[in-house]
Amino acid sequence: MGQLSTVGVVGCGLMGSGIAQVCAEAGYRVLVREVSDELLKKGLGKIESFLAKGVEKGKLTAERKAEVLGRLEGTTTLETLAGCDLVIEVVVESLAAKREVYQALDAACPSHTIFASNTSSLSITEMAAFTKRADRFVGLHFFNPVPLMKLVEVVRSPLTSEESFETAVAFAKSLGKTPIRAGDKTGFIVNRLLVPYLLDAIRAVEEGVGSIADVDEGMRLGCGHPMGPLTLLDFVGLDTTYSIANIMFDEFREKRFAPPPLLKRMVQAGLYGRKSGKGFYDYSQEPPRPMAGLA
Ligand code: CAA
Repeated sequence: MGQLSTVGVVGCGLMGSGIAQVCAEAGYRVLVREVSDELLKKGLGKIESFLAKGVEKGKLTAERKAEVLGRLEGTTTLETLAGCDLVIEVVVESLAAKREVYQALDAACPSHTIFASNTSSLSITEMAAFTKRADRFVGLHFFNPVPLMKLVEVVRSPLTSEESFETAVAFAKSLGKTPIRAGDKTGFIVNRLLVPYLLDAIRAVEEGVGSIADVDEGMRLGCGHPMGPLTLLDFVGLDTTYSIANIMFDEFREKRFAPPPLLKRMVQAGLYGRKSGKGFYDYSQEPPRPMAGLA
């Protein structure tokens, strides 16, 4: 396996833009693919504004910002990623969507290209089977906000080769992240522990154990968490959490992974959290106010 120099990132939403950014910051040439020019512009715009805030905060210079942006290139075709040594897929958590991407990439990329999925809950083994390179297929699971969170879960399937796995571990380190090694078990390490905790926080509100503000304050001040669980749910997205919980419940059939009715109702009502302006909190005012009448 040669040195990685060009990285492809498929999908430039919240996670994809963060991943593309940290790769460019680490010195890689990055090709970012989105399905339309409009989404590409929006995604690259997120990177631009994160770096601009960094310049305002005195975290980086305007020259460094220009240098990082200069390493990023956008495309709307998957075939453009044929020159990449590593392609990180960050598309929606749908196996059908991922299959389409991997089949096109597998046909376009040379044999040495490693494929990595940023999935948080789908099976790496199942996705690897969409390609003819299951030995060069890993999970690279980043955390939101990607530029600030230090962790990357590096996931291997039973078919991942030692060489590809260690290349992925070294790659995560080259981004300044701390990798942890995980097996291909739904939710890997972090979501296995985090998701039941978040769902329990919803149950606590649902059952009237405490108010939204008090459940959050309890975990922030009582356990030193940077965000309370309901604030974190709004941050991750209630629709995303609902989908992860359903996948985990399907896999394990354990009550702790079952999405509580309140979560389902909120998703049905379009209360997705920060991204939709309302979730457990209403973000139309500063500071955000706990939503009334949920439980
Ligand atoms: N450029 C450079 N640096 C920046 C920056 C920017 N644009 N924006 C912020 N920073 C820096 C800040 O300057 C600060 O640095 P210092 O500590 O040196 O001062 C640091 O980043 C933290 O920023 P803030 O002070 O603005 O924010 P904060 O202290 O409130 O922390 C947070 C924000 C990191 C998001 C924190 O609230 C946190 O850790 N929350 C929990 C997030 C979490 O749990 N994420 C995981 C979600 S689960 C997931 O992602 C996986 C899944 O599959 C669901």
